Amino acid sequence: MRIDILSVMPELLEGPFQHSILKRAQEKGLFEVHVHSLRDFGLGKHKQLDDYQFGGGAGMVMMLEPVVNAIEHFTSQRQYDEIIFMTPDGERLNQPICNRLSMKKNLLILCGHYKGVDERIREHFITMEISIGDYVLSGGELPAAVLVDAIGRLLPGVLGDETSALFDSFQDNLLAPPVYTRPAEFRGWQAPEVLTSGNFSAIEEWRYEQALRRTMERRPDLLENED
Ligand code: ADE
Repeated sequence: MRIDILSVMPELLEGPFQHSILKRAQEKGLFEVHVHSLRDFGLGKHKQLDDYQFGGGAGMVMMLEPVVNAIEHFTSQRQYDEIIFMTPDGERLNQPICNRLSMKKNLLILCGHYKGVDERIREHFITMEISIGDYVLSGGELPAAVLVDAIGRLLPGVLGDETSALFDSFQDNLLAPPVYTRPAEFRGWQAPEVLTSGNFSAIEEWRYEQALRRTMERRPDLLENED
């Protein structure tokens, strides 16, 4: 999979993909992330990217022309399965969306900034609009990093244990059960004995019950969405 990200603040995306799991995934050739500066497509001597909004009001708007030029530059090089705009008024990100996107080959992500982008970009180029939650961040870069991380870890071979992403919270509409490691007892706090019993069917059953209980207590809405 290849992901290209267009941003007015590419510096904000220097860190997230250079460490840990996503770094190894890129080294193994499973995944490519390229961050591009929209400034390269800015207009005139000052590489202008934003302008006052028509009708007045506070906040600048990302201009049509530089963003169109950037998008067309990249779409002329490859076919993108989706052109995604990160925006608080997009569809709220969840695990099924991440699962679906992890099966794509090429994604182009546009990070919003200022007051947003000229609406005509959304009308004519964007195929998906994604929000990471009902709160407003100062730009789409951190949301893009969240999206890329959530997708990247699902790609085959990225996680050491091939199956582990399948047991994450939200796969199956259940939160993950609690986990424990050594020591089995610390200050009198005992890890559940079943987990050290070696009885794998009992362990599976315990984990399922715990996942169900945790979901009922914390996120009953997930169970209501079950078919
Ligand atoms: N840009 C600013 N806030 C955002 C959010 N919550 N989700 C996606 N993009 C955003």
